Amino acid sequence: MKAASISDFRELARRRLPNIFFEYIDGGSYAEETLRRNVGDLEAIALRQLVMRDTTKLDMSVQTLGQTMNMPVGLSPVGMAGMYARRGETQAARAAAKAGVPFCLSTVSVCSIEEVAATGTPPWFQLYMLKDRGYMRELLARVKAVGSPVLVFTVDLPTPGSRYRDIRSGFTGAGKLEAMMVQAWEGVTHPAWTWDVFVNGRPHTLGSVQAAVTEGKRVNDFLSWIGRNFDRSVTWKDLDWVRETWDGPIVVKGVLDAADARDAVKAGAQGLVVSNHGGRQLDGVKSSISALPRIAQAVGGDLEVYMDGGVRSGLDVLKALALGAKACFVGRPWAWALGAGGQPAIERMLDILRAELAVAMILTGCTDVRDAGRSLLDEG
Ligand SMILES: Cc1cc2nc3c(=O)[nH]c(=O)nc-3n(C[C@H](O)[C@H](O)[C@H](O)COP(=O)(O)O)c2cc1C
Repeated sequence: MKAASISDFRELARRRLPNIFFEYIDGGSYAEETLRRNVGDLEAIALRQLVMRDTTKLDMSVQTLGQTMNMPVGLSPVGMAGMYARRGETQAARAAAKAGVPFCLSTVSVCSIEEVAATGTPPWFQLYMLKDRGYMRELLARVKAVGSPVLVFTVDLPTPGSRYRDIRSGFTGAGKLEAMMVQAWEGVTHPAWTWDVFVNGRPHTLGSVQAAVTEGKRVNDFLSWIGRNFDRSVTWKDLDWVRETWDGPIVVKGVLDAADARDAVKAGAQGLVVSNHGGRQLDGVKSSISALPRIAQAVGGDLEVYMDGGVRSGLDVLKALALGAKACFVGRPWAWALGAGGQPAIERMLDILRAELAVAMILTGCTDVRDAGRSLLDEG
């Protein structure tokens, strides 16, 4: 099957990836109410078709935090991408650089920040605050040293939400013997993945935080170590602590409430991502797109407002811009594409988003993404 749409990559990834990884990417927390809302609420928004406008020239580029984005789309941080394709984070970084959009590297990536920066374009870096502050300081210094332009500080994961699918698939919570059997079976039944990732994609450690983990060296050991080491004592004051080591722009990721957004401004953030972690944390909270307008209205003049969650087409991108986002980010779409076919598939996924965004702009009479506003929506 040739992918025509973003959701086609989901099907292609389902066929190629071991079930444990497909379910890990695809799933949300608990009953997945918020995951469905993220997608459903975007789908329900109507664009306003306007015809007979001269749309010969389209401008999709945005300037943000000292960066030029060729289109208002970036790749959200996604953990363990190196398990979906060989050295997956480097493949994603290359695809993003080719398209002229930012790639944000997760704290829990397989490839280290140094390995990804060696592709030639230092990624944005996503930070989880872990209890070991000495290690966090070292990590931030490494991120700075490779020239990452933006730090994305994720604030919606003081503790991980329960993901039923990962328990059912045997990815989390399984005993050692059961986990080994699941993995062996997955390997035998997914030979293309086994050759690409299991055999040729080593080492399978969490590259950037490897040195901090003392017990065990399997990805699962890392995940359980990280799970135990998220710091629930973190408050806005800790942004000052981050600033002691990081003097570049800081984007706070995982805000759904206007009061929190105002606090992010007070704490000195330069940007925020309206996000519920792709419906993977507190199930039952509202969708990102429905939280966006109020937040954009409250703080849009003070910092850069981005959103992620449920964006599955270029049409969705325009809807998010219309409701106040400067740019939006995608998580699962690039993880699916990576699992489906590595860097070329992510390039194609970004091409599809760009082409769809162009059509949406032409048929709403919008020639410059910077002018996108509510007038692009049919709210009657
Ligand atoms: C498999 C997977 C792993 C993720 N890992 C991280 C992570 O390490 N750090 C983080 O801040 N967000 C992480 N997220 C959340 C994404 O950055 C993003 O907020 C979310 O995927 C957006 O929703 P979407 O998948 O509908 O585009 C992850 C999401 C997925 C699907």
